Amino acid sequence: MERDIARVIITQEQLAHRISELGAEIAAVYPPNEDLTMVTILSGSIVFFSDLIRQLPMKMHIGLITVSSYGGATTESRGPQLLDDLNVDVTGHHVLIVDDILDTGRTLRMVRNRMADRGVRSVRAAVLLRKTAKAPADVHAEFVGFDIEDEFVVGYGLDYNNLYRNLPHVAVLKPELY
Ligand code: IMP
Ligand code: MG
Repeated sequence: MERDIARVIITQEQLAHRISELGAEIAAVYPPNEDLTMVTILSGSIVFFSDLIRQLPMKMHIGLITVSSYGGATTESRGPQLLDDLNVDVTGHHVLIVDDILDTGRTLRMVRNRMADRGVRSVRAAVLLRKTAKAPADVHAEFVGFDIEDEFVVGYGLDYNNLYRNLPHVAVLKPELY
């Protein structure tokens, strides 16, 4: 697997360091003793989500929502599809949506809108990566791990054709593989 990589963009150490900082940023925002549900957008955010929640000291509920990714290295062909709706009741809760990457913003826009319809107390979003060139102004993530260039990355949960999610770093594949 490692030999498919052209370049590491973010190392394991950089990920761990930034995620502990993000944990502190997030913990500072939520009042204690109010219900918080952390919602992971499957499948891309599983690795980030599991590391991030362990940096948070407060009580929290966990929710899952499944949104389809596209099959390849381009998002232009079709928009996100809801495959499995949120599995828990978030009425009256603070909701923090966690996703792997903010690219065109369509996934986050859809999930944010669905949460806002559920009588929640607040909705915020945390993304590990943001492609600054593309992220539209109307789709906001309150917590961002890293801003990156507009190139297709894999690892740490992010996939190409459902592979490479288990790479411990964020990387770019060799061009002949795309
Ligand atoms: P958006 O809806 O275009 O913002 O895309 C968000 C989703 O597309 C993410 O949750 C990822 O699953 C996928 N995605 C976007 N860019 C990349 C990338 O560079 N590598 C892997 N997946 C990506
Ligand atoms: Mg995804």
